[in-house]
Amino acid sequence: MQMIDLIQKKKHGLSLSGEEIDFLVQGVTEGSLPDYQVSALLMAVLLKGMEDEETAALTRAMAESGGSIDLSEFGALSVDKHSTGGVGDKTTLILAPLVAACGAKVAKMSGRGLGHTGGTVDKLESIPGYRTEISEKEFMDIARKVGVCVIGQSGELAPADKKLYALRDVTGTVDSIPLIVSSIMSKKIAAGARSIVLDVTVGSGAFMKTVEDAKVLAEKMVTIGRACGRNMTALITDMNEPLGHAVGNALEVKEALAVLKGQLEGDLKEVSLALAGEMLALSLSMSPEAGLALARETLESGAAYEKMKEWIQAQGGDVRYLEEPERFPVAACSLDVLATRSGYISAMDAEAIGQAACRLGAGRRTKADSIQMAAGIMLCAKIGDRVENGDVLATLYTEQAESLEEAARMYQEALSFSDEAVPHPPLIHGVIR
Ligand code: URA
Repeated sequence: MQMIDLIQKKKHGLSLSGEEIDFLVQGVTEGSLPDYQVSALLMAVLLKGMEDEETAALTRAMAESGGSIDLSEFGALSVDKHSTGGVGDKTTLILAPLVAACGAKVAKMSGRGLGHTGGTVDKLESIPGYRTEISEKEFMDIARKVGVCVIGQSGELAPADKKLYALRDVTGTVDSIPLIVSSIMSKKIAAGARSIVLDVTVGSGAFMKTVEDAKVLAEKMVTIGRACGRNMTALITDMNEPLGHAVGNALEVKEALAVLKGQLEGDLKEVSLALAGEMLALSLSMSPEAGLALARETLESGAAYEKMKEWIQAQGGDVRYLEEPERFPVAACSLDVLATRSGYISAMDAEAIGQAACRLGAGRRTKADSIQMAAGIMLCAKIGDRVENGDVLATLYTEQAESLEEAARMYQEALSFSDEAVPHPPLIHGVIR
């Protein structure tokens, strides 16, 4: 088989066979195909697309290009969740112990933050002692005993994706639906859970800016996941403003704890419950309505918080920080961002708010950057809220005083105001079951 033939075929909009896709993925994994030919093929895929069968074959081949996690001993109980990224998105911290407290098994890998989006692993590491890198044996032991274990993404899963993504990043081929779907789903398939709930975010802080685009992506991911033998559901959730009020690692852990302890109502709790309900529906074979009711009951009973403590302790975290969140260090410098007019907040650029948090030290601009656990933003007002001139819109936290002024300007510019009342955005734009 010759790579040039695959490129020619795809250039003319023809489908690649399973054997051709296996040849491609094997060549990418081994490093035997030159980058220029792989790049040419990626561009042809971006321009001509892929049939579902090709995308499924690519996903399977990438999932099999490295190691995988065997969760088969948990049968139908193993369930994973994947978010396409957001700002202030700390739902995993709530739903992982919640779903485990109901009897499902959440043995999952999570990513680190990059750019304006945060990562669950960074948030967990703000809890002193929490270990995100443990052996596979310990990972499985904790999953068996506690029902929940969350570690960092292993580079050994889907190595073909790592190489392809690096090429896509520098060849303008990231925004291709079959390439995005195969990239995300190959890692999820290799991570082993029988059921997967996707949180496809949409809005100013998300990869997908319109509900229509988010639906296309969600439907494709569900189709491909099913073709790979997994139970799939996707929720399309709103990311036109940060989720909850905290953006930044330790700040977000504290907010998640408030939800788990029954001290906080609102969007974060409701989106976490909706995702948890779908996870329970798939893993415990119940209707989505029954899943949601069970999730709410378990959260409100305090059982999810108890499970959170058990989980964090099992992974080495200091549980005293969960019991007394005031132990989390507070950043040395802070600044209130004040409203310069009265009115209703009509829009928020959530990506710009994520970038402001990044400027304060809460995120990374490049993979090599380090982050400050206490840095970030606490929002005081969100879309639909009325503010008066001089009210506090948000408080910024950082260890670098020199970043405050620029971050405050970024925050001000991220907000739009209206004299007319504005409705709160819907939390969920659609479900694909
Ligand atoms: N996230 C991924 O892992 N892959 C993509 O292609 C896009 C987002």
